[in-house]
Amino acid sequence: MTTPANDLFARHATVGEIAAALPGATDVFRRFGMDFCCKGNVALEDSARQRGVDVAEVERALSALGCASDGEAVPTATTALIDHIVAHYHETHRRELPELIRLAQQVEKVHAGKAGVPAGLAALLERMASELEQHMCKEELILFPAMRLQGGGVRLDAPIACMRHEHDDHGEHLRELDALTNGITLPPGACRTWQALYAGLAKLNEDLMQHIHLENNVLFPRFST
Ligand SMILES: [Fe+2]
Ligand SMILES: [Fe+2]
Repeated sequence: MTTPANDLFARHATVGEIAAALPGATDVFRRFGMDFCCKGNVALEDSARQRGVDVAEVERALSALGCASDGEAVPTATTALIDHIVAHYHETHRRELPELIRLAQQVEKVHAGKAGVPAGLAALLERMASELEQHMCKEELILFPAMRLQGGGVRLDAPIACMRHEHDDHGEHLRELDALTNGITLPPGACRTWQALYAGLAKLNEDLMQHIHLENNVLFPRFST
């Protein structure tokens, strides 16, 4: 993977540094019972040893987080493109949104009343997760199978118009997210959890925009005018 967080995979990097820079890392640390917040200044290797877990296993889990924007070439054939969208975007949203919701709930609770707290962010993310899930299910169960079956050249105008309309709603959610978080900008002195949350939000924003771009501008025009 080619994220800026690559440099942090050295075992002397602290779990706090990794949690703040690598979206999804907090979920991995939580699963292994490693404290990335209060004991965030502990090196990855030491933190794993203290918890009695194999550091190599933790590193594998961090590497496997997957990065939807990792520069992998986008396939051109329709079936392969659909597979790519589902694997790189649908599955990534499903994996990452629940952790973002947990982090947002934590930040809103622990820092309630402080300047810059994104009040209402967890609720917005819950709404996004729910609406995205319904939208992606429609694509996976109805639209994409029809595209796979037909190949190309067939018109699927009505379902595609519906999906485009829902993409507009997702874009509106991203604008709300931007407004709530001051353009996903951390306030001075933000804690590790807050940093991890905003790194994850930046990735969500990038992934969702790329996801919608691939459908609206690359896949859908093959089946509609
Ligand atoms: Fe999609
Ligand atoms: Fe979509």
